[in-house]
Amino acid sequence: MLARPSACNNLMKAYVTMSDIQNYVLRRARLAATLGDGIAIVATAPEVPRNRDSHYPYRHDSYFYWLTGFNEPEAVVVQVGGAEPQSILFCRNKDESREIWDGFRHGPESAAKDFGFDAAYSITELDAKLPELMGNRERLAYAVGDNPAWDARVIGWLNAVRAKSRQGIMSPGEIVDVRHALDEMRLIKDAHELGLMRRAAEISTGAHRAAMRATRPGGHEYEVEAELLSAFRRGGAEAPAYNSIVASGANACVLHYVFNNKPLRDGDLLLIDAAAEFGSYAADITRTFPVNGRFTAAQKDAYEVVLAAQIAAIDTVRPGSDWNAPHDAAVRVLTQGMVDLKLLKGSVDGLIEASAYTRFYMHKTGHWLGLDVHDAGEYKIDGAWRPLQAGMTLTVEPGLYIRPADDIPEALWNIGIRIEDDVVVTESGCEVMTTPPKTVAEIEAWMQG
Ligand code: GLY
Ligand code: MN
Ligand code: MN
Repeated sequence: MLARPSACNNLMKAYVTMSDIQNYVLRRARLAATLGDGIAIVATAPEVPRNRDSHYPYRHDSYFYWLTGFNEPEAVVVQVGGAEPQSILFCRNKDESREIWDGFRHGPESAAKDFGFDAAYSITELDAKLPELMGNRERLAYAVGDNPAWDARVIGWLNAVRAKSRQGIMSPGEIVDVRHALDEMRLIKDAHELGLMRRAAEISTGAHRAAMRATRPGGHEYEVEAELLSAFRRGGAEAPAYNSIVASGANACVLHYVFNNKPLRDGDLLLIDAAAEFGSYAADITRTFPVNGRFTAAQKDAYEVVLAAQIAAIDTVRPGSDWNAPHDAAVRVLTQGMVDLKLLKGSVDGLIEASAYTRFYMHKTGHWLGLDVHDAGEYKIDGAWRPLQAGMTLTVEPGLYIRPADDIPEALWNIGIRIEDDVVVTESGCEVMTTPPKTVAEIEAWMQG
């Protein structure tokens, strides 16, 4: 007879071990400390149908998961602040008949124990319990406006509390967006998170290496995509962190190219922006390399500009640098390169001042990275770019996209290049977590290997 899966087995599969649970308990305590005498409600994501009875692969809500490590759908965490903080989970009941079809469910009793909650109830009790829990709380924190149906439900609970005013029960006078506090906390990654991000980076690095080796003239973009997806799963990653971009030739100048269906042509470059999600944490890597394994002179000239911009940008990543320092550094090197490549004419300062470089470099140089590929966290504080701090994780991803035009040297037409790595700010500088071949020499040597 097959043993029933234990809660512990299930925790392991979710990359959350019993010793990690303390991290989540601590995070909820930190949330409680921001609430005063308030209450926070954070729901996980719904399952989304793809067609008829088939669903998209389930992905929990990142805020909910950051607070709980719990990855079942139909779950809500309620955190009560004040003098006696309480952490409460609402989740699906155990249901052996459903578990035969869909697999293990913790059920409230074991979830409370295994995930360190003070109490847990059936999700079917949410409407009954919430007005009770919200009574006499000064403040209510939830993801205001994230989902109209959820807004309506929360307001229903508020009105249910208000209806009890003659019994002397006060309703929260203030509604705040719980994401403000959580965004700031999610911005600095702890050791457990960095361990998962390094693993996501390592798997994704291996996938890019495999993709470079699998690329050849006459193949197709989708064959290279298949190598990436295979390497993600073989590495134990649960999913791609975002839709893979495998863009050859002119397709590389389409920033969000998704079709991945064209033949790979001798003499073209291939831009791959693809990475895995491991333990719910994303990597985000872009590499650009020649389909035939050898850069032409024009491709090499353009590539060296982007590489120099990326190295200059990474060089600015250290505690105390401001968020925009990598972008400023990249823009300066790229703009000088655009002049050298005869894409632009004029002084570098003047071209930067006039934003002339945006014709060929129209996106920013990075974003926060974490549970979400474009992760939580403000970029400016009181109108100024925020200083970088140890434990922040971000991408550095300059690019150069040259569409055909009469005023552009023809050898550069349809060249699209981006180089993207993931870095963590350390006490003294930064650590680059992603390491697929990057220089011209490294790429050519790897592809010939
Ligand atoms: N792959 C998404 C991005 O680079 O931002
Ligand atoms: Mn990115
Ligand atoms: Mn990317």
